[in-house]
Amino acid sequence: MSKNKLAIFGGEKLISKNFQQFNTMATEEINAVKKVVESGVLSKFLGEWHPDFYGGPKVREFELACEEYFNVKNAVSVNSWTSGLICSVGAIDIEPGDEVILSPWTMCACASAILHWNAIPVFADIDPYTYNLNPQSIEKNITEQTKAIMAIDIFGQSADMDEIMLIAKKHNLKVISDSAQSPGAIYKGKMAGTIADVGGYSLNYHKHIHTGEGGIIVTNNDIIAEKLRLIRNHAEGVVGQKGEVNLSNMIGYNFRLGEIESAIGIEQLKKLNNIITKRQKLAKQLSEGLEHLPGLLTPRVLKDCTHVYYVYPIQIDQNITQVHRDKIYSALAAEGLSIGKSYGNLHLLPMFQNKIAYGSKGFPWSSEICKRNVDYSKGICPVSEELNDNRYIGIDFCQFDYAVEDIDLLIRTFHKVWDNLEFLNK
Ligand SMILES: Cc1ncc(COP(=O)(O)O)c(C=O)c1O
Repeated sequence: MSKNKLAIFGGEKLISKNFQQFNTMATEEINAVKKVVESGVLSKFLGEWHPDFYGGPKVREFELACEEYFNVKNAVSVNSWTSGLICSVGAIDIEPGDEVILSPWTMCACASAILHWNAIPVFADIDPYTYNLNPQSIEKNITEQTKAIMAIDIFGQSADMDEIMLIAKKHNLKVISDSAQSPGAIYKGKMAGTIADVGGYSLNYHKHIHTGEGGIIVTNNDIIAEKLRLIRNHAEGVVGQKGEVNLSNMIGYNFRLGEIESAIGIEQLKKLNNIITKRQKLAKQLSEGLEHLPGLLTPRVLKDCTHVYYVYPIQIDQNITQVHRDKIYSALAAEGLSIGKSYGNLHLLPMFQNKIAYGSKGFPWSSEICKRNVDYSKGICPVSEELNDNRYIGIDFCQFDYAVEDIDLLIRTFHKVWDNLEFLNK
């Protein structure tokens, strides 16, 4: 059997090894957890106006460490970044029926956090190279009802925040950064997530650093920070005792992070810089190995910014390869490469196509709070749709702890498929 015959046509598979799973849990985390368990205090939060309203010692220590690392005035821990997004949308004083502009190239929690407060998600298109919100498309989607922009820093690099903050200033909008996938990425000297009014990071199992489930919200605005803490911890039961006068969105939850997760988070945060440096080296090696393949586009990073590679995104230009992305994807997958080819396009979810969210009668779109007929039809975000349908392939750097030799193997796999492109159309 020819070594070069593609596995998809019965040739020998190039990747037969199992890559090491990405796992940064080690002795430090085990010891930290042990200490918390031995202390008997697994959570110290109280849902009333009391010193423990702000949580226990590990929660506070983790938040302080995050304030220092991300260089922000306030870090507020939560039990997931989905909870963090809900807190963030509530804390910017959103009203029912307000519109929030976001990108469709993300996961569903971004849109549902907006709907959670009976606000209306409006999808703007993305930049074809960074996959983040395209500022021109934001401007086109601004209406009388627009109240905020949710900029999602997808795959590991920040959205173009200078442009986005300018638009926000011009139209008096608030900005939320979802930097779930980009902790530690730099945007022109500042940490991704910290330039907006409020931002934050996911600490779920797949992220650069994690606590199993968890999230960190960051803001330099003290008023927003206090609202975040209230929504996190039973706001409605605390505001009276605390003497809060602004009661807008003071419906609270139990979004509190535990002491064990916080103790793990403290150790994980110490590892973040090394994780990022390693991923950046591997991404550079991969880009150097792939960049001469005709019709393959390696990731682009904005000037004066860094990428932390949660996902290493690639595009296939069919005009050059003469082979559709799907065929190339199948050939790569058959060689044993773990890749993805679809992402986002949230506007096409059944919830938006049918405009059914709360109950079955179309709330909030069918109610008087929704002032216009918001369009979610296919075609509203052509760049995002084209990438998803025809161009995008993603290598999940978050999944495996690739070594230098593994990246060489990935490169050889791409080259093998490119050497055989002519056969894929037969
Ligand atoms: C961009 C983005 N936003 C939000 C979330 C939700 O985060 P969590 O799983 O911590 O709730 C994720 C998680 O994958 C994400 O990638």
